[in-house]
Formats: sequence, C-alpha cells, structure tokens
Amino acid sequence: MSLRKKFILGNWKMNLTSEEIQRFFSDFNESYNPKDKLNVGIASSYPYLELVKKLSMDLILTGSQNIHFENSGAFTGEVSPLMLKDFGTSFSIVGHSERRQYFGETSTVVSKRARAALNHNIIPIICIGESRAEFEAGTTFKIIEEQLIESINNCLFEGQKIFPVIAYEPVWAIGTGLSANKEQVDAVHLFILDKLTNLLTNLKLSTDSVSVIYGGSVNTKNCGELTRLESVDGFLIGGSSLKPVELNEIIELSF
Ligand code: PGA
Repeated sequence: MSLRKKFILGNWKMNLTSEEIQRFFSDFNESYNPKDKLNVGIASSYPYLELVKKLSMDLILTGSQNIHFENSGAFTGEVSPLMLKDFGTSFSIVGHSERRQYFGETSTVVSKRARAALNHNIIPIICIGESRAEFEAGTTFKIIEEQLIESINNCLFEGQKIFPVIAYEPVWAIGTGLSANKEQVDAVHLFILDKLTNLLTNLKLSTDSVSVIYGGSVNTKNCGELTRLESVDGFLIGGSSLKPVELNEIIELSF
C-alpha cells in the first residue's frame, strides 16, 4: 500500500434533518470500528456542522460541502474558512460537479476556495471528473488534466504542511448506480498521480503528499476491489453515506 493518506468521506449533499442525523449516529456509533490510519469523515450541510461534531463524538472528521475564499465581507450566502474553523471543520469539498454544473463554479474559483482552506489548515477535497458526453467522446484524460491543473493552481507550494486531496468523480457515475469499473478508475488515478508527481517534484515536495480518492456510486459491492488498487486512496461517497450500516460496512470492507 502507498504512503499516501487514506480517506473515506461521506458527502451528505442537501439531505438529512436534525432528527434524521440523530438516528444516523445512534446506528452508526454502535457499529463503527475506527481503523488505524484511515481518515473517516462526513460533510454535512452547514447548519448541522456542530450537531454532527457532537453526535459523532469526535470519532470522525467533520467537513463542509463548500468554503469561501475570503474571511468575511459582502458575500451573501457564502461561509468563510474562519467560520468553518470555528466549528472544527477538518475538510471542505470544493468543485463538486453539482457545484460546477448548477452553480457555475469554475476551476479558477475552485482553486481560490481550495487555497483558502489550506491557509486555515482545512483539507480541500478538490473534485474533478468528466461528463458522460466527454467520456463517450474519449476526452476523459484531456478534461481531467485541464480541471486538475486549473483547480490545483496555487494549492501546492514549497514548505506546505497540509495538502489537498483529489477526488476523481466521473459525472456519469454520480448517483446513477453506475460506478466506473476498476480498470477505468485505475487508469485515471494513475494519470492524476503522474501529473501530481511532476508538480510535487518541481516543488521538492514528497510525491506521497496528495491522496487521490474515487467517487461515483461507491457501495458495499465495489469498495473492496477498488481499494485493492494501489492508485486508490479511498472514497467520496454520496448515497451510501446516508445509510449508517452501509457506510460502516464500506469502512470494514475497504483497505
Ligand atoms: P454517489 O455520490 O456516491 O451518490 O454517486 C458521490 C458524490 O457525489 O460525491
């Protein structure tokens, strides 16, 4: 297994009320088995950051689904890194395809958000992934390279201590039940790792610093074979992370 850090992160998206979150943790905590060197976390909606932290009893990392790049100011509807730090947020998802698709987030903005997270010791989970049309047109690697380079711009610098995580999430695999197969995942992850190695080496940073995780219909059936790939450092999980038993099973079966 590589020395890169391993992550299993839930992305609850715009789901679960406080009552449902209480039920989630009463089931989750009962069977959760922390694993050595595996970082497990959940990104809830903003209003529930504190509740998730309290109910998870700090056994897992808590995260947000976005982050703004300024500390304060006239940015209606946004939440700043300072505020997220206040709630003990350990990681922030940035550039999720739903943000890119429905809210016009560009890789330039994603890179600003990611850098602001790093400046506050919050791990940015930078999402990249091709659409179905791009996949079918055979342009996956071109799109991945563009999104990766533009989104990670300014997020790698000499002497840094906290590093971004790259989440490869093919848009066509998100919420569809159609996960990319292990050959596809491996090929794209190796491609990303190769690009990262060049960037990291130029900055004299360890090539093991940046983890690459997969997202898109991860479940109890496909998690085992995917984490057996050397190129896969874990998952960003939507649907299956809403079900405590399934999430625990994925943690159990992975790595
Ligand atoms: P999914 O979502 O696991 O439901 O496909 C993944 C994601 O959007 O991060």
